[in-house]
Amino acid sequence: MSYQPLIAPSILSADFARLDREIERIPAADWIHVDVMDGHFVPNLSFGAPVAKAVGKVTDKPMDCHLMIEDPARWVGDYVDAGAASVTFHVEATDDPKVVADLLHSRGCRAGISLKPGTPVEPYLDLLEHVDMVLVMSVEPGFGGQSFMPEVLDKVRALRAEIDQRGLDVLIQIDGGIDSHTIGDAASAGCDVFVAGSAVYGAPDPDAMIETLRAGAAAARA
Ligand code: DX5
Ligand code: ZN
Repeated sequence: MSYQPLIAPSILSADFARLDREIERIPAADWIHVDVMDGHFVPNLSFGAPVAKAVGKVTDKPMDCHLMIEDPARWVGDYVDAGAASVTFHVEATDDPKVVADLLHSRGCRAGISLKPGTPVEPYLDLLEHVDMVLVMSVEPGFGGQSFMPEVLDKVRALRAEIDQRGLDVLIQIDGGIDSHTIGDAASAGCDVFVAGSAVYGAPDPDAMIETLRAGAAAARA
């Protein structure tokens, strides 16, 4: 099948006072990426399920919730209730990622696992049969606007090889520092879904930037 990169703008870089309008500005987006931070798993606080629910009400696009929170098993249900199409949680935040993924699937929601830049991928390869997506963080989670860490692309390549070899339908997502300069290397390494916060909302025309990013990913993989 041909390569169809998905662009998921992060509303973390949007104007929180006008989220409906900010989402209307990005009709070209494939997914809406919602960054949930609890001030414990990461040293920053963003918003929780009530805001995710409000976002879900103003868009028909798949809402992709990235939970940077402790004890995800306790909270994932709230994001399913909020209307998430996919919920990604961090493997560092739970003792049993499979239980959390199974919980999401039992509620009819797609499940993703996320790895911080310093977390190796090998211990989690057994989970590939049980998840729909792996999010490789390319910055330390917690803040938008940081610089892309190219060293995480080794993990992306390892995942790409494993997923293809096993013939699995698992997406690889990358998040952090993605812009028109970095997206090509991430696409070449094997990413399918690209989160971009500051690159999209910092652009004069956010929707045009989404098209630029998608074209950059497609060109790199061609
Ligand atoms: C970081 C978040 C990212 C962030 C990306 O912890 O998970 O989704 O919003 O922002 P940029 O694209 O500015 O690095
Ligand atoms: Zn994110």
